[in-house]
Amino acid sequence: MKSRIIGTGSYVPKKVVSNFELTKTLDTDNEWIVSRTGIRTRHIADKQSGETCSFMATKAAQQAVDDANISINDIDMIIVATLSADYKVPSLACLVQEQLGAFNAAAFDISAACAGSIYGLSIANSFIVSGQYKNVLFIGAEMMSSATNWQDRNTAILFGDAASACVISSSNDDKSGFIDFKLYADGRQHKHIFMPQGGSLEAVDEEGIKQGKDKLFMNGRETFKFAVRSVTDSINDILQKNNFNKENITFIVPHQANLRIIEAVAKYVDVSLDKFLINLDKYANTSAASLMLAYDEANRNNKLKKDDLLLFLAIGAGFVWGASIYKV
Ligand code: UT7
Repeated sequence: MKSRIIGTGSYVPKKVVSNFELTKTLDTDNEWIVSRTGIRTRHIADKQSGETCSFMATKAAQQAVDDANISINDIDMIIVATLSADYKVPSLACLVQEQLGAFNAAAFDISAACAGSIYGLSIANSFIVSGQYKNVLFIGAEMMSSATNWQDRNTAILFGDAASACVISSSNDDKSGFIDFKLYADGRQHKHIFMPQGGSLEAVDEEGIKQGKDKLFMNGRETFKFAVRSVTDSINDILQKNNFNKENITFIVPHQANLRIIEAVAKYVDVSLDKFLINLDKYANTSAASLMLAYDEANRNNKLKKDDLLLFLAIGAGFVWGASIYKV
């Protein structure tokens, strides 16, 4: 039994914020942001007009279900990867289940930050290849604007809001679908990206809010170095384990954090940058949503052909990271 993606969808908020707009409130400039990150714009949700995290997730999910051409009642499980859900409790997956009316589905969230995408796909795949479920809806949904300290130029320039989704289904076609996953974690690095307040350890207080402790803190330089090293190693690992070489890969779908990270990885594994599907210039880093946002764009633009071999890559706070090989 294999699992394959049979439908994709995404939602990005209507409001586009350019680097130039950020310079009105931050000591930064367009040239710095473009040269250090590759980001030109990001989409920011407007909660007042109803663009909540669950709204974005549901929109992306509905599109994926329509694309898959299945009934809402056929969804057996909803998995959402997010660090910016509407509530801490209950899960975003339960809100999406309600909004979709997918009442035959089990529903839960996972916490793996920006690597929630690859962890989520892997969990969905496991439920299917074990024979337990037939159709799993996987969603990455992020309201990163609510987790960002807009006074901190180290992080405020990096993130955007979005949701992406895919329906993963069982398939008897042994020649296509997910071939393998490799997931990794190194908890010793957890202080490089973390939110000091708002957990059970430290409640949010006034002083904390002033210091931005209720928002994401990031050690950018260490994150950058770790990301390049670990993502490069994960590519080599998974190719070797499956007896593929880099020439076999049609496209690489990386987490969209920073163009310089992708360029460095491309250089280390000696793969042309043309093979990487990149859209972070428009959407910035949308955390758990980014991987499927790039895949959905390629899918909708008919860029992917039957038998293409794809390599999915993601890394996030923890650090957690992973890779997967997928045949279209
Ligand atoms: O999913 C994982 C999420 N996180 C990431 O992927 C982030 C990974 N890290 C990065 O992308 C990069 O480290 C950044 C883009 C965050 C920063 O780029 P960098 O080349 O590592 O810059 P830096 O932190 O070493 O800072 C260089 C200088 C500093 O000034 P001084 O100390 O040299 O005077 C910063 O204060 O750039 C300054 N700087 C800025 N200047 C203008 C930092 N942010 C900005 C800014 N605009 N937005």
